[in-house]
Amino acid sequence: MAKQKSVYVCNGCGESFPRWMGRCTSCGEYNTIQETKEPDAKNAGRYKAWAETSSLVTLRDVQAQHHQRYRSGISELDRVLGGGLVKGSVVLLGGDPGIGKSTLLIQAMGSYARAGLRTLYATGEESTEQTRLRAERLGMADCDISLLAEIDLQRILACIEEEAPDVVVVDSIQTMYSSELNSSPGSVAQVRECAAQLTRVAKSRGVSLILVGHVTKDGALAGPRTLEHMVDAVLYFEGDPGDSFRVVRSIKNRYGSAMEMGVFSMTEAGLEEVSNPSSMFLTAHEEPVAGVGVFAALEGTRPILVEIQALAEQTAGPNPRRAAVGMEASRIQMLLAVLNKHAGVVAFDQNIYIKVVGGVRLTEPAADLCSLLAVFSSLVERPLPQKTVVIGEVGLAGEVRAVRDLDTRLKEAAKLGFTQAIVPAANSTKLAHPGLTITRVARVGQALAALRQLKDAA
Ligand code: TYD
Ligand code: MG
Repeated sequence: MAKQKSVYVCNGCGESFPRWMGRCTSCGEYNTIQETKEPDAKNAGRYKAWAETSSLVTLRDVQAQHHQRYRSGISELDRVLGGGLVKGSVVLLGGDPGIGKSTLLIQAMGSYARAGLRTLYATGEESTEQTRLRAERLGMADCDISLLAEIDLQRILACIEEEAPDVVVVDSIQTMYSSELNSSPGSVAQVRECAAQLTRVAKSRGVSLILVGHVTKDGALAGPRTLEHMVDAVLYFEGDPGDSFRVVRSIKNRYGSAMEMGVFSMTEAGLEEVSNPSSMFLTAHEEPVAGVGVFAALEGTRPILVEIQALAEQTAGPNPRRAAVGMEASRIQMLLAVLNKHAGVVAFDQNIYIKVVGGVRLTEPAADLCSLLAVFSSLVERPLPQKTVVIGEVGLAGEVRAVRDLDTRLKEAAKLGFTQAIVPAANSTKLAHPGLTITRVARVGQALAALRQLKDAA
């Protein structure tokens, strides 16, 4: 038998090297490289059996079936999955340890079981007693969920073959162990191998599979990062452990829209849906405060109103600070440059801080104009007009650029009692928005001028 060759694989990014190194040259992490044995030639032959022999077809002639979806009845979860868990699909649910992944999945499995689906919950993290206690707290103890406390992949695969479940949860993929490899559970090689085998069985039997993966602090799935391309959907469970709000975000979904988000709150009795989160992130200020703007963000298809706060403070040293929470700090530099060049506002002697309230992360460029006006408001120490929502992307030429789906955002703002909106002139609105005075601006200078007029009108 040929000698098994060693490869050295980084646990952080999954890159492999011919020899061991202290630092991964691909992701820059220290002490993440581990030795693993490459499967020998006999083992490699195994994968051949997985490949199907397919013939050439014309796109026009392909018969596509509509996906059958399993609804959990937890509408926030169904929403991020694009309308329910697709039969035969593989989902990766990532998140920090303790954020609530197991809690959510026991709740979901309970609902699937109540709806008559056959469910299998394989856990390598907790005993069946612990899982039962958790289910009791969640009011799911009477559900027909088959439990398997096991880390041996072959046992789990055998169980899937025997039980023929509709939905399988593997909690977590980092605890699973395939005896065909001799590296330890949680190593990249094991995680990949276990996921590949589970995926193959799930796909061939039409089983929906949910894999749980723990995330490291820097936001990368340790090891499971390399699974993202293998699965049909990737969901991330996010939230501040000190706070009860939890957000499940879809990063990738072959059967629905990515960027969809579901909002929950963690209570004594498990995760509760927050079905109307749009005003959750707004603060009620008793007096108008300078540096506070409201933006209508679009998370997937859903509008959410968020507060953007800015603080400008005289700097003591030669290098003013620019820091941001909830958005990229480099945006502040850019917005300040635009303010300076196109509106003559200088801030070189000011420290500038920006914070998106409620732990929300804004990646949309449509938040630019609101951030810019919040900074301006703090610089001149004048509050922005009340009950006003600001939407628009800012270009380096000082122009206010159009945003995606303005009507949905304005509708939500009107619903929540906002009376004024500053929006890009480049956008047209197709709907009427009763109760909302809309001010269209084409350039940053016009937006600043509009502040004065709106103030007078209010
Ligand atoms: P868990 O689902 O075990 O997290 P994960 O599987 O992502 O590691 O969540 C555990 C946390 O949730 C724990 O800190 C306790 C809390 N929790 C509640 O607040 N209410 C509940 O009903 C349950 C079951 C857990
Ligand atoms: Mg868990």
